[in-house]
Order: sequence, then C-alpha cells, then structure tokens
Amino acid sequence: MCGIAGYVGQRNAPEVLFDMLERLEYRGYDSAGVMFIAGKRITIIKDKGKVREVRGRVKPENYRSNSGVAHTRWATHGVPSRINAHPHADCKNLFAVSHNGIIENYSALKKDLILQGHVFKSDTDTEVISHLMEEYYKGDVVKAFRETLNALEGSYALAVLCVKEPGKIFIARNESPIIVGLGRGENYIASDAPAFMPYTKDIVILNDLEYGIVSKDGVEIFDLSSGRKVKKEKRTLDWDLKEAEKSGYHHFMLKEIMEEPEAAANALRACRDLKQIAANLNAKKRIYFVACGTAYHSGLVGKYLLEGFNIPAEAVVASEFRYSTANTLNRDCGVVLISQSGETADTIAAGKAARQKGAYVAGVVNVVGSTITRIVDDVAYTYSGPEIAVASTKAYVGQVIALTQIALELALAQKKLSKQRFTALEKELREIPSKIKSMLVENDVKELAEECADRRTLFYIGRSVNYPTALEGALKLKEISYLHAEGYPAGELKHGPLAILDKDVVVIAIKSGRLLEDKMNSNIQETKARQAKSIIVAEDGDIKTPAVDPLLTPIVNIVPLHLFAYYISVLKGLDPDKPRNLAKSVTVE
Ligand code: F6R
Repeated sequence: MCGIAGYVGQRNAPEVLFDMLERLEYRGYDSAGVMFIAGKRITIIKDKGKVREVRGRVKPENYRSNSGVAHTRWATHGVPSRINAHPHADCKNLFAVSHNGIIENYSALKKDLILQGHVFKSDTDTEVISHLMEEYYKGDVVKAFRETLNALEGSYALAVLCVKEPGKIFIARNESPIIVGLGRGENYIASDAPAFMPYTKDIVILNDLEYGIVSKDGVEIFDLSSGRKVKKEKRTLDWDLKEAEKSGYHHFMLKEIMEEPEAAANALRACRDLKQIAANLNAKKRIYFVACGTAYHSGLVGKYLLEGFNIPAEAVVASEFRYSTANTLNRDCGVVLISQSGETADTIAAGKAARQKGAYVAGVVNVVGSTITRIVDDVAYTYSGPEIAVASTKAYVGQVIALTQIALELALAQKKLSKQRFTALEKELREIPSKIKSMLVENDVKELAEECADRRTLFYIGRSVNYPTALEGALKLKEISYLHAEGYPAGELKHGPLAILDKDVVVIAIKSGRLLEDKMNSNIQETKARQAKSIIVAEDGDIKTPAVDPLLTPIVNIVPLHLFAYYISVLKGLDPDKPRNLAKSVTVE
C-alpha cells in the first residue's frame, strides 16, 4: 500500500504535493518522491526516508511547476532505496509513473522490454509501466495508456505524466484506490481523501478498470474495455481530516480489519515465492515455524496443516527457540520465520542461530527490505500493506494464507495430497477474499460483543487447525480490552479450567467445519452444563462463517473474532489502536 497525490492548478505543485503527501504517510513511509513538468522535461526528485525527511532534503520550494504527482512508498518489489522510490521514468524521460499495487506479470513484461532494448534502473514492478508507455507511444498518449493498462495483470492505482502533454495527469485504477478531488481552476488526485481535504471535499471515485485524464479545468473518466466515456457523479465528503485518514473509520484497527479481503488477495499473489520456499523445505527432514505473538499463532496453523498431511512440523516461539530448539538444528532442518514487521528482535536472533547451525532459513514477512528479509535464504512477502494499529489483524490473515499455500505445495510435492484435491483447495483459496468481504458486510458480532463486555473471563476453544485461532482470538481480546481471555485446546478444558466456569464466563467455541465436529459439540455441552455463555463460531453457529474446506477455516474464523475484540475495546471506552504497555514492533529481547 502506497500513497499517491497529484495536483494541477495555479499553485506551486511541488510544495502542494509534499503537503498532500504528509497527510498520506500512514499509507507507507519508506521513501518518497515527486515528479513535475518544468520547461520541456519531467523532473523527478525522490529519496529514501519519511516524507518530512525527504522534503527537507529536496526543498520543493526551490522548484516551479503547476502540475505534478507525488508518492510515498511502502515497498513491495525492491528494497526501500532512492532508486526504487517512485516515480519511475522510461528510457527517454517521456513518461513517469507512480503506482500503488502489485503488477503480477511484471517479470515477463520486463524480460520482453529488455529484449526490445529498454534499460531498467530499479527492481520495482512499477518501472515496466513507464517503459510500456514508451513502447506503445506513437503520438497518442491516451492510446498508449490504454494499451499499457491492457498489458498489465494485477492491482494498480496509477498516475502518469507525459512531457508531450503538460498540465494533464493520466490516472487508472484496478483493485487499488484512486480518487479525484474537485477544486476551482485546480484539481487533485489521491489514493485517499485526507491528501486534499484542506482544499476540497468534493470527489469523484474511479471504479476498477477505469482510467481518466485530469487537468486544471476538468476530469474525464473512461471505461478501459470499451474506451467509452463514463458519466461520474460528484460526491461530497462529510468527514473531518482525522476520520478521512482512516477512510471514515473511527480507528485504524477497524480500517485494517475491513482491509482483510484485500490483504487475503495480496497474500495469494505471493505464490511464486512460497512455491520456492516449499521446494526447499521439501529437501529437509525437520521443519520449524518460528515467530512471536500473533505471527507465532499463524505458524501454529502451518504446523497443524502439515501434520494433517502427515508431514512432521513444529511451531516454536522465537524467544524459546533460540535457547533450546536452535541447539538441535543441523543442515537437514528448515526454519520458516514469520513476522509482520520483519524487525522483531527474538525472531531475528532465532533466524541467526538457525543459520549458524547450517539450517535452511526462509521468511514470511510483510515489510519489504526489513531485517529478517536480509538474513534469510528465501523470502515470501505477504503484501498486507502497512499495519498502523498495534494489534495485528490483516497481517495475520496474510500469514495464514501464505502458510496454507506452503503446506499445500509441500504436501503435493511429497504426494501426501492428490493433484485433484490440491487444485480444489487452491480454487477455494482464491474465493476466500470475497467470502471474507461478505462476512464483514453482514454479521451480528457487535450485538454479541455488547452481551460479553462485562463478563469476568472469556475462554476461546478450538481443536486442530483452529486451536491457533482460539489462541489468537484470546490474544487480540486481551491486548485491546484488558479483559482476561484464554485460548485453550477444546479437549483440555476438562483437565482444569472447567472448575472456573460459571454464568459470568463466556466460552467461544471455534469449529473447523466437519473436522472433529462431534468432539467439539461434546466440549460445547460441557461448558453449557456449567452455565457459561457459549458463542459458537461456525457455518451454522452464533457467529456465522462462510462454508469453506475445514483446512481453510482458520482464515475465515479469525475475521469475526477480530471484530469482536475491536467492539469490546470500544464499548469499554478504550483506544484499540494504542493498547497500554505494547509497541507495534518489539526490537528488544
Ligand atoms: C499482537 C501482535 C504481536 C506481534 C508480535 C510479532 O497483535 O501484533 O503479538 O504479532 O510482536 O511481531 P512481528 O509479526 O512484527 O514479528
């Protein structure tokens, strides 16, 4: 997730653009850049660092132009650096592009373009776009733009400048947002409204597979497949600036939960790197998933999935692993580090210890270029986008999807899963983003949260692949509501915790479809007999989840539990984005 801002009008664009960019920084913050046309050339100034730092270095007030585009980056392809920062120009500096999203077919496009003589400067997927524009341009910018868009697979919000048509910004959208802000004698574009909220609240929203031309006097939007002009309605936002930053949500946590369908779709895009990791793990005798907190719970899902296929695997918390399990490693071991930030000290130390012992070490990480990505043999990114709320939500969904893909690939390679079942599961995985979306649109979770906010304690129970869901649901609630919550293997309640169950206790039972359903039903009866309030998370439960294969239930089951924790926190008058005593990234042991 990156932030794009654009301006055309009477004012000095480089300065307006940096103002806009500062209000978009929550979308990404590893590097920033701006492009504008002055004289007969495109000027690009960009650097690594936060927007304010880059602004201090490039001094936009020293430049003059009335139109331009700026970008704050959250790296997906290519580490954060000046070269990889946006915008990216073509060989002749005719075009420059800022992009938010992932171009899935960029390697194939890049290979072709290099064969045709194009010279690439960066490691980004974005740069193919400017070279494609150059390749297709025969005197008609719009035609070249349309042909370029038709060649792209993946997600994009794009803003393109062309020296031949100064005063115009060419924009397009597919699965990544871009909106137009309407001013008087000036217009704006942005990934999100806060960028231009101090100047205008009148907006036009682009839909997927639409493109447009924005100038100071007007905005034209077209449909990509037909090329026909689309009539757009002006909408007026009634948000204030703070709300707008969160796309109208009260908290980043809720915004990030609502982004889970997109995070799921993006994690599915990492499949090539995950295949590579699975292929390397296939040569190993012992497999370990190593991580902390929420990321550890996703590793535990990985362990259960592999063991379900009869492939031995372990999940170990990083702070324990480095002082115990690590001692037993050798070249026959494969270790998968999982981390949202890629900067967690215990996970980094565990990875280094594993490497010292000669183990193969891979990373499943969200933040591109982070420390973990630099100490591993292979990395697969989850592409969840920046997570601002301290409690991890959408990143967990991305991690579980990534580990599910590794497990399926490995099971297929070891012939523990038939090709037919593999294909069926893969197909179901691709339907997960829309299933999550429908769950987020319609649910009764808020009402259930209201019934539970004053209870003494909450137990989350699950079996097999959903035991980790129970741990994660409880962790989320503890973190942001300060209520006592515990995740437990459902079959283990009778070995102790049943003693404290009464009507003040809530038991959230998380089912795995038909997998061990009878056993779960008995465990639920045990809790009901002690008058605990039970909430069943299942296809036909009190919290309804979509029908999916039992192996994929951990992905969908966690979504309502994220909402549940969020609502309880808000009901208790707390700030779910900033739980006390916790930091987003734990860089100390
Ligand atoms: C909980 C949470 C933490 C992190 C843990 C690891 O909501 O966010 O438990 O999961 O600190 O962080 P990463 O994934 O950045 O290594």
